[in-house]
Amino acid sequence: MKFLSIQSSVAYGHVGNSAAVFPLQRLGHEVWPVATVVFSNHTGYGAWRGPLLPPGDVADVITGIEERGVLGQIDGVLSGYQGSAEIADVILDAVARVRAANPRASYTCDPVMGNADSGCFVHPDIPPVLRARVVPEADVITPNQFELGFLTGTEPQTLEEILASADLALEMGPRTVLVTSVQRPDRPDGTIEMLAVNADGAWIVQTPRLPLKANGSGDVTSALFTAHLLATDAPTALARTAASVFALLDVTARSGERELRLVEAQDAFVDPPTSFEVNRVR
Ligand SMILES: Nc1ncnc2c1ncn2[C@@H]1O[C@H](COP(=O)(O)OP(=O)(O)OP(=O)(O)O)[C@@H](O)[C@H]1O
Ligand SMILES: [Mg+2]
Repeated sequence: MKFLSIQSSVAYGHVGNSAAVFPLQRLGHEVWPVATVVFSNHTGYGAWRGPLLPPGDVADVITGIEERGVLGQIDGVLSGYQGSAEIADVILDAVARVRAANPRASYTCDPVMGNADSGCFVHPDIPPVLRARVVPEADVITPNQFELGFLTGTEPQTLEEILASADLALEMGPRTVLVTSVQRPDRPDGTIEMLAVNADGAWIVQTPRLPLKANGSGDVTSALFTAHLLATDAPTALARTAASVFALLDVTARSGERELRLVEAQDAFVDPPTSFEVNRVR
């Protein structure tokens, strides 16, 4: 498959395209990465250098691809952190152009806004744009539990509440919702879950919770789920994604490094060592 992935790029470490591209390639997919920023490292270090690309320049790169006459080959568009409403417009325009060339192309939006620990960490302009304009255009969204609530004006905690919020998200337009980092109050200690919901059902997978918070794991999760979903179905994509991301984080945690060990864990994208049961919950 071929993916157009419009995300941040960092030289050191792995977030945005610098997290999402290699796992897709390791699975045998072509990826056309378009950078929205070119930073030295992710902003979690507190200091970084390099440019935020002007939205017009990002749009220009996409126009250049269009001028090669190849947009119709794209199976999926991926987007991650959107730094401004203007970048959101560029992404929406790219999605429209890809769909004009290939109506079957899928768009996955990771509606990055925050998490349960930090709250909302993006500019206040971003959530309204995601809610009103971006999410309605997406085929797949991959919010974490906090973002699912923030998108839908809810604060889901229990499985039932998360399913109800996911239904509200489906009503906004997407056909599939992947809820990441689900941490229900009644889950077994030391576990973390992921939930996939579509019109046909809802499926949950539980893994051990590892002692780390690695930047970029959400970007890998969103990319892998998108590729597997296009090739299979929601429960299979959920199982494969959970197994590969768990293996990647396990290798990373054992290394003691702060950055994802993508290269070291590469075989786990194709053939993860441990699989986890996927349970149908609706
Ligand atoms: N500490 C952890 N232990 C095990 N799995 C984890 C852990 N952290 C993340 N994951 C896995 O990675 C997936 C993506 O989570 P991640 O926290 O990277 O992205 P997120 O849910 O978007 O949160 P954030 O936006 O804060 O990065 C989770 O659904 C989970 O499967
Ligand atoms: Mg995320």
